[in-house]
Amino acid sequence: MLDRPLDAKMTEQKPVNDLTASAKPVPTLPDAQTVTEVTHYTDRLFSFRCTRPQTLRFRSGEFVMIGLMGDPDPKTGKQKPLLRAYSIASPSWDEELEFYSIKVQDGPLTSKLQHIQPGDQIILRPKPVGTLVHDALLPGKRLWFFATGTGFAPFASLLRDPQTYEDYEQVIVTHTCRDVAELTYSKNLIENLRNDELMQELLGDGLNKLTYYPTTTREESPKMGRITHLLQDGTVFKDLGIEGISAETDRAMVCGSMGLNMDLKDILEGYGLEEGANSDPKHYVVEKAFVG
Ligand code: A2P
Repeated sequence: MLDRPLDAKMTEQKPVNDLTASAKPVPTLPDAQTVTEVTHYTDRLFSFRCTRPQTLRFRSGEFVMIGLMGDPDPKTGKQKPLLRAYSIASPSWDEELEFYSIKVQDGPLTSKLQHIQPGDQIILRPKPVGTLVHDALLPGKRLWFFATGTGFAPFASLLRDPQTYEDYEQVIVTHTCRDVAELTYSKNLIENLRNDELMQELLGDGLNKLTYYPTTTREESPKMGRITHLLQDGTVFKDLGIEGISAETDRAMVCGSMGLNMDLKDILEGYGLEEGANSDPKHYVVEKAFVG
């Protein structure tokens, strides 16, 4: 699907030792990638895109370590990389990488990362890992993605991966946030998918294969409440015209806060689903949404 080599942008850069009178030295961050686009959604959320190392292969849903150089040590003056785990939000076929991040004002990394601009460099360790991958689930009919906050990131990758629609008859993505503005990233992504001609073929007649179920907990919106409560009281099933969740037909991926992950584990196991892993695929998988 790539229309040009992954390193097309990188080959345009000057070699580090080619310092002509007008050329600026190219910064020498380890594993440096260049930021290409930054979008801010709220004072707590932003996403950005960057170049992709030519050699980086990953499965949609995996995460990598990314970051910036930390402040110089007051004693030695030395700088160390400040790295955090981030789910890759772009699909594996994309020529660039995308990340979706929270801004924590006193967070060691995100207090700085939120100020990046196109042209800036970030550090990216090209060793993708993670459990939110198709390989960790047994074949099934219906796939659920349960996300809160920035836990939507791995699903932004999986929702843009054709395999998701090839492997399942129905895909349901729930996203719970505090307020309506925090749903912007997922809302835009779903809209873009539905408007994309190539995706329309995969989403079937009336785009029925994909259901988006956004909810808010602290601001009025068409659907309010924690997804856990809406599952427990049957609202989700009533809204979607589904009888329930069973290990025979349903598979699930969960990504959110520790609380959400634990609560949903209990709920899914109550339906008879068992937790899977790369080496032992089963009915559902869980990953913590990373904050910094
Ligand atoms: P709530 O507003 O009731 O805490 P955050 O922005 O703090 O990461 O939270 C994102 C969303 O996840 C919020 O809507 C929050 O609801 C919800 N949430 C937090 N903990 C849980 C949980 N244990 N189960 C379900 N939803 C949760």
